[in-house]
Amino acid sequence: MCGIVGYIGARQAQDVLVSGLAKLEYRGYDSAGVAIRGAGQTIEVRKKAGKLANLAGELQGAPLAGTLGIGHTRWATHGLPNDTNAHPHATEDGRIVIIHNGIIENYLTLKAELSARGHVFKSETDSEVLAHLIEEKYQQVPGNLYEAVRLALGEVRGAYGIVVTHVDHREIVAARTVSPLVMGVGEGEMFLASDVPALLPYTRKMVFLHDGDMVVLHDDGFRVTDLSGNDVQRAVEHIDWDAEAAEKGGYDTYMLKEIYEQPTALTNTLIGRLHDATGEVNLDINLDPGSFKRISIIACGTAYYAGLVGEYLIEQLARIPVEVDVASEYRYREPLVSEQTLAIVISQSGETIDTLEALREAKKYGAKTLGVINAKGSSMTRELDDTLYIHAGPEIGVASTKAYTAQVSAMLMLALWLARARGTLDEARAQELLHAARELPRLVEEALAPERVAEIKRVAEKYHQARDYLFLGRGVNAPTALEGALKLKEISYIHAEGYAAGEMKHGPIALIDANLPVVVIATESRLLEKTISNVQEVRARAGKVIAILSDGDIENAQHADDVLYVPRAHEMVSPVVNAVAMQLLAYFTASALGKDVDKPRNLAKSVTVE
Ligand code: F6R
Repeated sequence: MCGIVGYIGARQAQDVLVSGLAKLEYRGYDSAGVAIRGAGQTIEVRKKAGKLANLAGELQGAPLAGTLGIGHTRWATHGLPNDTNAHPHATEDGRIVIIHNGIIENYLTLKAELSARGHVFKSETDSEVLAHLIEEKYQQVPGNLYEAVRLALGEVRGAYGIVVTHVDHREIVAARTVSPLVMGVGEGEMFLASDVPALLPYTRKMVFLHDGDMVVLHDDGFRVTDLSGNDVQRAVEHIDWDAEAAEKGGYDTYMLKEIYEQPTALTNTLIGRLHDATGEVNLDINLDPGSFKRISIIACGTAYYAGLVGEYLIEQLARIPVEVDVASEYRYREPLVSEQTLAIVISQSGETIDTLEALREAKKYGAKTLGVINAKGSSMTRELDDTLYIHAGPEIGVASTKAYTAQVSAMLMLALWLARARGTLDEARAQELLHAARELPRLVEEALAPERVAEIKRVAEKYHQARDYLFLGRGVNAPTALEGALKLKEISYIHAEGYAAGEMKHGPIALIDANLPVVVIATESRLLEKTISNVQEVRARAGKVIAILSDGDIENAQHADDVLYVPRAHEMVSPVVNAVAMQLLAYFTASALGKDVDKPRNLAKSVTVE
């Protein structure tokens, strides 16, 4: 999940690498480094532990000149996050320099063999082994860096995005298996990165490399092959995200910007897909919605909570049995899957390794597969039978916000699509739901009105010293409580638990005292009265109730210490609207505590290790 940038062309590589890495820092940020091939046929490496700013500061003081370079931000897998273990890694003579994302599973064996043949290693990383292995292969095929890399990869087991340079060659050789790589095509220059935002300021023409692709980049072009050395054709795609969309805009943080982008993101998710006048749901999915007897939803983290909302919606509306799994469990539990199973994977990045492997598992058992994915061209999209893109745009903040609400909206559309095809919804109800869904961008816009945001900020600041938090919700909003707790804990580091409200009395009620803020999602629903009973149970034990209520609900406000009003929404779409209040509460709590919300400790945006 680290970030890679490569450049060959006429510009000073250092500038391209540092600006590109800044866009990728969300992929991992415990150290950073660059290697630049200078005019005097040397490759200079600079690397530093800590955030990219440490390295950027050093480079500013003593810049590296050269027009070919590779750069990296790391999220440690093997070895501590220190200067030595940071990438790039060079051979002892410094002639070959590499960067590697992923994990080499057989690195200990390879390292032992290489050591026995006299290689000396500086770092504890699995990646350094690759540099030495390529060095050995280069001796077998002198003058042919591409072939040396290809031969070395033939001995490697694991996942990699690898980028290699050699002092004698004005070229960059790269390859990928599992870890993503995208190439940017310029005029007389070529770029490489692990994700699109790093390339957007330079080019819109991009080539997404597939698993098992190798590529050689020159100033004026590239060649893609497979690992056997056969030429492979990869299309140059035009990417229409603007660079601005991948930057912070006027906001302090990516997370806040992305929270405010939700009305637009949701418009993009829904646009052209729901037609409330005709009751039509057009998702451009080629699978036959009538052919499934059960549905398996598989995802991780926040995306998993979107899956839980999806379970509720699909079962309610389309009357098909649904089960939801966290991907890391699904992979190993020998699930009951048949050809009449539809496996739906949900992933913002499309790269999360647990979800990718679970998808492969489902396919192995014969399931049809559908992805609810944000990142265009990501690894999952190439293995799925079909993909429903959520079109939320690039999400940089580590804590997922707009992708979550877009995922939930996509699950609603899928539920409607299945329900329409299976005839489980009468016309009036279908139109009511389609209309409610189409209202979402407007409702979320309203949920972001300045006076509401100010009130959430006030409440967040009032309780920001709390040690623990409890989140409760029922029915389709039980997952909203789980998501609220996750959002708070990941960016503020306050311990938080989410529970189905009715479950509180079976255990968590013991936690309640005057120091425990309890967020209760009590918006309009069939179960509102029951939820209010739970509120009273909290109050009776002196807990502090922060109630999320629908606009105009004055009656229930009396049971709460603090009330956050949200726009009235149809129960089935309310998880999207309510999630916005959860996100802002977490955001302002973390801000009050002075936390780095975009880069919470120990987390990475896209988790491509198991
Ligand atoms: C939390 C968060 C994570 C991700 C999870 C899956 O805010 O963002 O829990 O949801 O790591 O990531 P994707 O959706 O990229 O598969």
